[in-house]
Amino acid sequence: MNAPFDTASAIGPDATVQPAPDHQVAVIGLGYIGLPTAAVLASYGWNVCGIDVSEKVVETVNAGGVHIEEKDLDRLVHEAIESEKLTASLEVPTAHFYMIAVPTPLTSENTPDISYVESAARAIAPKILPGACIIVESTSPVGTTERVGQIIAEMRPDLKVPVYGSQQAGDIALAYCPERVLPGKIVRELVQNDRVIGGVTPACATRAAALYKSFVEGDCLTTNCRVAETVKLTENSFRDVNIAFANELSVIADDLGVDVWDVIKLANRHPRVNILQPGPGVGGHCIAVDPWFLVASAPKVARLIRTAREVNDFKATYTERRIRGLVDAMPGKVALLGLAFKPDIDDFRESPALEIALDLARTRGQRIMVVEPFAKELPKGFAGTGAELVSLDHALATAEVVVVLVDHTAFKHLTPADFAGKLVYDTRGMLKR
Ligand SMILES: NC(=O)c1ccc[n+]([C@@H]2O[C@H](COP(=O)([O-])OP(=O)(O)OC[C@H]3O[C@@H](n4cnc5c(N)ncnc54)[C@H](O)[C@@H]3O)[C@@H](O)[C@H]2O)c1
Repeated sequence: MNAPFDTASAIGPDATVQPAPDHQVAVIGLGYIGLPTAAVLASYGWNVCGIDVSEKVVETVNAGGVHIEEKDLDRLVHEAIESEKLTASLEVPTAHFYMIAVPTPLTSENTPDISYVESAARAIAPKILPGACIIVESTSPVGTTERVGQIIAEMRPDLKVPVYGSQQAGDIALAYCPERVLPGKIVRELVQNDRVIGGVTPACATRAAALYKSFVEGDCLTTNCRVAETVKLTENSFRDVNIAFANELSVIADDLGVDVWDVIKLANRHPRVNILQPGPGVGGHCIAVDPWFLVASAPKVARLIRTAREVNDFKATYTERRIRGLVDAMPGKVALLGLAFKPDIDDFRESPALEIALDLARTRGQRIMVVEPFAKELPKGFAGTGAELVSLDHALATAEVVVVLVDHTAFKHLTPADFAGKLVYDTRGMLKR
């Protein structure tokens, strides 16, 4: 397949950044972040080429469709393809701006795997013209943007690549701009949120900020790339540490035989205390992952952040142990309410509720009923366990033990009276709120 931007015009450092017919943005990685970003940019008049290694993704997008569920995304992609402002390709084209939005998973040792970012950098390097601006958006350990610069410098000795800490002008710009959108509101938040844009040099930050200013209504705040990388990791580490406090408190309260929900409600009446709500652990692909990137960036000193991760992981083990105690105390059916990693979404990635339900299904399958309004069928792991997906009414009519794992809105009308005569474990405090 031919890349669509083979005729990219010469770019030059003084190129205007207002969308112009010959100005092109290549977005590398068309997932939850890259595809909405590409479509939003196209809706603001940029010529956008979305690149993905998956043929299926490229075909779907070129047909005006989407392969992920996100509010308003299907309409936006369809319009962008119709207007020919967006196209998708397997090949990286020559472009004015490159945005890297590929995965940055954790390894089994809880260290960051930046190989996808490195491979995106290798794919971009041969195509770069002087004046191009490369922006990393993937959540990354500190130093990743400089690593991208290093790869480009090795592959393109003809280009002067900017270096962190040096004031020397480069032939290209290199920056980091993290994404902090909320799944379900990505299209809106891409435009409305403030952005932190960290350049390898101040000139790089200015150049990258110009792209964001063309479509972001929030503030575009410039800094250096190391600060910007740390900001992203700090945001989710802050959340994780605060949730860990609530989760540890819930275990302490159990040990002391006091009601954690009462403790939190009353402690929060202090004008400067705001304790979060405990739960069955922390899930999702951000809060449960990003703190490890910060730990990996400063392993000898990031002690609290590491411990918070461990506390939150332990809370899932602890919750399962408590549920097993209830399950073994009664012979009948067990209803587990919710599998998602947080309320009112259909995302089960890294979900402690899902892990707990799967573990119970593997050993007590015939007795396990799952209620999950966001699932049409049970995820594959449940196959052959005997566990079944049932309606809330059926679960309440037949279960002896009920566990609230996720406080979906669809469960919030329930009151203690609905659970009369059953053993109940409410991991989210839904019935107290
Ligand atoms: N999803 C979120 O809510 C969210 C929020 C903030 C930050 N992030 C971060 O953004 C980054 C992307 O996350 P995502 O959720 O969009 O991932 P995703 O898995 O939904 O999509 C990534 C896409 O990149 C493609 N890809 C992988 N390697 C590639 C390569 N070398 N070249 C081109 N395409 C390639 C994959 O095929 C996939 O389609 C990650 O670092 C993530 O941590 C995600």
